[in-house]
Amino acid sequence: MHSGGMAVLRPRLHFTARRFWLNDPNGLVFAGGRYHLFFQHNPRAGNHGYMSWGHASSVDLLRWEEHEVALPWREGQDVFSGSAVVDWRNTSGLGGAGEGGPPVVAMFTGNGFYHQAQYLAVSRDGGETWAFGPPEPVLDEGKQDFRDPKVFWYAPGGSWVSVVVHPDERQVGVYTSPDLRVWSQVSVFGPAGGVAGIWEVPDLFALEVAGQERWVLKVDVFEGGPQGGTGAQYWVGDFDGRVFTPSQGARWADAGKDFYAAITFSDLPQSGRRVWLGWLNNWVYANRLPTTPWQGVLTLPRELSLVQDGPEWALTQVPVPELEALREEPLALPDGQQVEVGEGVPLDLTLPMTSWILQLLSARGEEARLWLEDGALHLTRAAPVGMDGFAGTFTAALPDGPGEVRVLLDTCTLEVFAAGGRLAFTQLLLPDEPITALRLRDADGRGWTMRATQAP
Ligand code: FRU
Repeated sequence: MHSGGMAVLRPRLHFTARRFWLNDPNGLVFAGGRYHLFFQHNPRAGNHGYMSWGHASSVDLLRWEEHEVALPWREGQDVFSGSAVVDWRNTSGLGGAGEGGPPVVAMFTGNGFYHQAQYLAVSRDGGETWAFGPPEPVLDEGKQDFRDPKVFWYAPGGSWVSVVVHPDERQVGVYTSPDLRVWSQVSVFGPAGGVAGIWEVPDLFALEVAGQERWVLKVDVFEGGPQGGTGAQYWVGDFDGRVFTPSQGARWADAGKDFYAAITFSDLPQSGRRVWLGWLNNWVYANRLPTTPWQGVLTLPRELSLVQDGPEWALTQVPVPELEALREEPLALPDGQQVEVGEGVPLDLTLPMTSWILQLLSARGEEARLWLEDGALHLTRAAPVGMDGFAGTFTAALPDGPGEVRVLLDTCTLEVFAAGGRLAFTQLLLPDEPITALRLRDADGRGWTMRATQAP
């Protein structure tokens, strides 16, 4: 179907590094009046290597300004994934004398020669500039695979908590610390749920629902995801500062093929608010995506909550409401009519929860097709030669729930939310030519063109 002449445009709302490789989001934290976004980055090439923490920041979660690499690769040690917190009371003692506010402390995995352990890094100017912390790891079990620490402050216990994954064992270790420097293991979760592939990138966070606090443990799986390959599973349950106890079985966070390595922001200014974003990709083909000069894109930030689902709880995700400020021109999608849209213009569409077909068209014809039929959402996408695992039709059951279907299309990214956020469905597209028209059949739709936040 594809000729090979790819013209994949850079997304205009979704974060990409200006140049070269990006994978997991890291160290998401609000500090110094800005949202900080770090990311797994190769500052030298468009493939996974020389892993470093790239850095961008934003005042509104929409417009990201890319900065110098925060934590560069050094001979013998990759800077793998991790998280960051504001150490308000300087428990770590890593703060500077007086100026600059509380230290912002990152905990990351140092990936060495058959050895992974957790290290600290610090910013003494509200997250702007960074330095490596003590040369020794703060958490080391002498293992080859042990990574992706996610840290948070557990107020009732007055301690830091870090969840760190044991990939091969399909386990998440829970550790506590008074000062971010000395860590003790307090429990281990797993194996459970999806165990076909190794586990990566855990997160553990509370969500308030009907005046009660419930906890969500998310961990990614390398194989056996909802559409094959990598994916994100979660449990809802309780956490007492030491042990996470699930109250229900594992569920997929996103039913699409391209949602991985999401982590939540720390220290958001609005109490109770939970926002995460993930890597819009699948390790099955991540290294072979034919885009240039960038490689890898993150999802839009999504707000999280829980809703009752029979006797269980379901995670809901919706794009952060801040995005609505980017809506520009209203767009109508009358049944059967081809509607031209500008090349590269991001779209925010609202479609009914009835049956319909949405064709995404380029100068060559249909590039992809999204449709709703028999209580399920379907996407067919094509792929160039050599992209095994990319082309095909992907289906997700549509849960019961209120509302409409929201479709965010931004060049090669498609994020669909339905049933009040109970369904999130995230997919990359590789159109042969840029998408410049839409045709909706069997329903009327509407939407908006969106103002770009990232240059082409
Ligand atoms: C997940 C992951 C992490 C690791 C990082 C390396 O995509 O494999 O487990 O820390 O990427 O870039």
